[in-house]
Amino acid sequence: MAGLLVLAVLSTVSDAQAREDRKLQCMACHAGPDRVTHDEKTGKAQDIRIRMDEFHAGDHAETHCLECHKEGFEVYPHSRMKTKTCMGCHPREDAEGAEDDEPYEFERIEEEYEGTAKHYTKYKDEEEYCCGTSATEDGRGTTIKIGRPEKERFTCEHCHDPHYFKSTKQIGKAQLILKNDNGPCLECHKDDAAEGPLEDRAEPSMNLAHDYLPHVELHLENTRCIDCHTTVTKETVTHDLPEGMEADQGCNTCHSIDSIMTSRLYRYQDEPDRTLGFHNAAMLTDNYNMGANRNRMTDWATYIIVGLCTLIILMHGGLRIVEYLKTKGK
Ligand code: HEC
Ligand code: HEC
Ligand code: HEC
Ligand code: HEC
Ligand code: HEC
Ligand code: HEC
Ligand code: HEC
Repeated sequence: MAGLLVLAVLSTVSDAQAREDRKLQCMACHAGPDRVTHDEKTGKAQDIRIRMDEFHAGDHAETHCLECHKEGFEVYPHSRMKTKTCMGCHPREDAEGAEDDEPYEFERIEEEYEGTAKHYTKYKDEEEYCCGTSATEDGRGTTIKIGRPEKERFTCEHCHDPHYFKSTKQIGKAQLILKNDNGPCLECHKDDAAEGPLEDRAEPSMNLAHDYLPHVELHLENTRCIDCHTTVTKETVTHDLPEGMEADQGCNTCHSIDSIMTSRLYRYQDEPDRTLGFHNAAMLTDNYNMGANRNRMTDWATYIIVGLCTLIILMHGGLRIVEYLKTKGK
């Protein structure tokens, strides 16, 4: 009996060890400097490095390479590959996972995203970018290809790299969230510098596209694209992409006391201890946002001054009327 127990323990230990070893095998070729391959014929380059320090800092640090890279990777060259994508695992169904995933509403996100014509529908029948992520059996997964296809599908992974994904809550600081969330947009939407098969050729200048805004660059650098390019009046995290001027949120969405920036970009940032009477003081640590950062003391000072002035005017007017009535009575 005891022998069996020892055997069982030993075998779980060696299972865990074998699992670790397999990860080390992947890392031997995929982590570390100079792991770039080139296709001799086309000259296309593919960077196949995974930055392990960033991987370990992300939300999938505990997820093994082989949980996502399901089939075809234990041999080299890899063949008949199958890789799971976000919706292949989420929303999770096990007790703990289901509870953690619920607030994210993965299914709603997917539905919204698949409704975006310019991002999703237009490219939905193109080739997958990588390693058997396609739901269909045939295609790229069966043989390995180096480099990106000429035209590719637009997937969740273009904005959320599964290796380095960090949830907004875990990032916490507004300025870091801003960088994290605008980063992928800017890879494809950047003044004349966007790259890859999915670069936006229709709109090469961000400044021109936004010339309705005063201080265009100030806005593009200090706000999140998605805080105008999603329906901000819906849930906090939205994945739709209203077309053209429909994106216009007006100015008050941000420049007012109940600025959407507090419930979106700044939702995990605490107000500082000393707000000195400013509204939405958390935002003030980063920049001054006209309208959203009115000061309670200046508000009161204004009320008192305006109130006093009105009183004086009324008194003055009242006395004039009394005087007029007196002279008329004579
Ligand atoms: C002997 C080195 C080696 C090992 C071990 C290895 N790979 Fe690779 N892998 C490569 C090379 C090289 C490429 C680039 C394509 C090519 O040249 O065949 C690649 C490509 C990939 C790709 C991209 C495929 C595509 O379609 O673009 C993925 C994903 C991948 N490997 C995952 C893994 C995982 C997960 C493991 C561990 C189970 C692993 N690899 C182990 C060398 C290796
Ligand atoms: C949470 C799921 C997940 C985990 C964990 C994961 N991968 Fe991946 N990996 C993917 C997906 C999905 C893609 C395809 C990305 C795309 O389509 O943009 C990918 C792509 C790759 C590529 C090709 C990168 C490129 O730019 O061409 C390599 C190499 C790779 N993974 C290696 C690894 C290794 C090594 C590990 C473990 C240390 C690992 N992956 C862990 C999901 C994962
Ligand atoms: C192999 C299955 C798998 C794939 C594929 C996968 N995830 Fe995960 N994800 C997990 C697991 C397991 C956890 C829990 C990690 C932990 O607690 O260590 C997790 C955690 C998360 C969390 C944090 C949940 C929390 O606890 O707050 C988010 C958000 C998330 N994943 C989003 C994504 C996105 C976006 C993608 C696609 C880019 C993706 N996941 C791909 C399995 C997966
Ligand atoms: C065009 C880029 C883009 C695409 C495509 C995209 N997302 Fe997102 N996603 C974002 C941005 C930006 C945020 C940050 C929103 C926030 O936290 O306020 C986000 C937030 C999320 C979150 C919440 C994370 C958190 O920290 O609260 C989840 C979960 C998520 N996306 C899943 C998905 C899934 C699943 C898909 C594919 C069906 C997808 N996303 C496609 C850009 C994208
Ligand atoms: C302050 C709100 C706001 C912000 C922030 C913003 N946009 Fe826009 N954007 C708009 C509006 C409104 C239009 C439509 C202007 C027009 O048609 O004249 C637009 C136009 C565009 C267009 C041209 C296509 C179209 O819909 O007409 C692209 C592409 C675009 N934005 C991408 C981005 C990216 C990427 C970011 C982040 C770096 C961003 N936007 C930030 C409001 C915004
Ligand atoms: C992988 C590349 C890629 C990424 C990442 C990306 N886009 Fe796009 N985007 C495109 C392409 C391609 C188009 C279509 C251009 C066209 O043909 O009109 C487009 C179109 C748009 C449009 C125009 C919609 C219209 O009404 O014409 C807006 C707005 C936009 N993207 C905003 C964003 C925002 C915001 C993000 C980040 C959350 C983002 N994009 C991330 C490639 C990308
Ligand atoms: C997505 C939120 C958002 C929207 C929408 C928005 N703004 Fe802003 N705006 C900001 C932020 C944040 C700043 C502060 C940037 C900084 O100083 O770092 C700013 C700065 C400004 C400034 C400069 C103030 C100064 O200190 O010089 C002006 C003027 C301005 N906005 C006017 C507008 C007008 C007009 C509109 C509508 C057409 C508009 N904004 C729409 C967020 C927004």
